[in-house]
Amino acid sequence: MLHHFSTLQVIILAAGKGTRMTSVKPKVLHNVLGKSMLEHVLHTVEDLQPESVSLIAGHGIAQVKAHIGEPENLTWIEQKEQLGTGHAVLHAEHVPTTADLVLIVCGDTPLLTSETLAALVNAHQEKHADVSVLSALVDNPQGYGRILRNADNQVQGIIEEKDASAEQRLIHEVSSGIFCVNRELLFACLHQVDNNNVQQEYYLPDILPLALAQQKTVQAITMQNPDEMLGINDRFQLSQAEAIMQQRIMREWQKKGVTIEQAETVRIEASVNIGIDCTIRAGSQLLGATHLGDGCTVGPYSIVQNSWLADDVTVAPFSHLEETSVGDKSSVGPFARLRPGAKLDEGVKVGNFVEIKKSVLGQGSKVNHLSYIGDTIMGEHCNIGAGTITCNYDGANKHQTMIGDRVFIGSDTKLVAPVQVGDDATIGAGSIITKAVQNDGLTLSARPEQRHVKDWIRPKKGDH
Ligand code: UD1
Ligand code: MG
Repeated sequence: MLHHFSTLQVIILAAGKGTRMTSVKPKVLHNVLGKSMLEHVLHTVEDLQPESVSLIAGHGIAQVKAHIGEPENLTWIEQKEQLGTGHAVLHAEHVPTTADLVLIVCGDTPLLTSETLAALVNAHQEKHADVSVLSALVDNPQGYGRILRNADNQVQGIIEEKDASAEQRLIHEVSSGIFCVNRELLFACLHQVDNNNVQQEYYLPDILPLALAQQKTVQAITMQNPDEMLGINDRFQLSQAEAIMQQRIMREWQKKGVTIEQAETVRIEASVNIGIDCTIRAGSQLLGATHLGDGCTVGPYSIVQNSWLADDVTVAPFSHLEETSVGDKSSVGPFARLRPGAKLDEGVKVGNFVEIKKSVLGQGSKVNHLSYIGDTIMGEHCNIGAGTITCNYDGANKHQTMIGDRVFIGSDTKLVAPVQVGDDATIGAGSIITKAVQNDGLTLSARPEQRHVKDWIRPKKGDH
């Protein structure tokens, strides 16, 4: 669902330090399922297609900028001193914009959905309101600003917990900190907000009574699912947010035809993409920008990170894939390790205790047992015997191994790179290959002579 609000300026508040995270990293850069909180919020507001997005940053602004970059449509604004949410929003007053409506969100609420934000903006426009705040009814209102209503149920203002009376603290309708406000009114009111409160901060919510004093229309829109406004202040809330988002992501993939076995043991990060009829088995993790085509099976207990799997790929138990690509109908594992730059073509088989790094394996090739293949280009339909090793490193530099098509390599062969093996070559078991291997025929290195000691007697227990 796409919503298009061409007259909307979004302001994201992300200048706070996040002291309770106890981290050298700015709070909004902490990840929720592989994506920073701030990226979650940015992607959510992008769905609304606003006229512009203004990001108020302060603590660790250099780090935040390095992480987010300079997307089109985004204006960075530095708030040097954090004097409150009202003070923060005021920094966005002079951003060049044609928008007449402002949507204010916080950088630390990654669970917020674009549907909820669109509902707020729509309700604001439909009711011809001047200020709309997104509120929620919660069991435990602790820490949030409470919505104050009069006897007619009209919103009168928001009182911060620290400023609230014992009676006000009993109110269960809280502010999400998310507002939709007519732009002109917003900045006119913000100039009048003072810091006459317990925290001596300029509170954004204080624009409510100022707007009401001008006979403006103020409303609170109650959100359906209060989970969405979970603001992250510490690492416990971070794990709560992950758990909630993980459930959402699971539901989404289940609806799209993915089977997830023992879902509570599985991790599927936010940027992952999965085709239909895939099965994600217990204890597995799909991380980062991982893509699975249709009909893939992963696990149990396998990790696939920043990798591209085509259709009908099997990743058998206890395998680890990182920055790899795997072609149609290939199978990997159990107990395989594909390191960055491993590229498997169609119908490739990589079996147990095999490590592949920065190598291409052509269509139908097999490396089934106990091998290390690094810095190698291998053709089609090769069969690499158990224990084969490409000796790619001389202690200083890495060297290439080139293997042709239909090559058969006997078990326990060492290919000392740089070295080439021609098409249709066969290499005898136990060979140490240091020179180019010709096409066809059998190549093998000298083997120690085999002896038989006829009169040898196997020692028995108790012999001396
Ligand atoms: C705020 C609201 C509260 C609401 C709650 C919802 C105010 C005064 N209070 O409280 O009504 O219930 O959010 O989570 O608005 N920030 C800046 N610059 C500043 C101060 C804050 O950018 O000078 C940013 C923070 O980085 C954060 C957001 O604004 O992303 C909210 O600030 P925070 O200090 O977390 O406010 P709360 O006490 O949670
Ligand atoms: Mg907060």
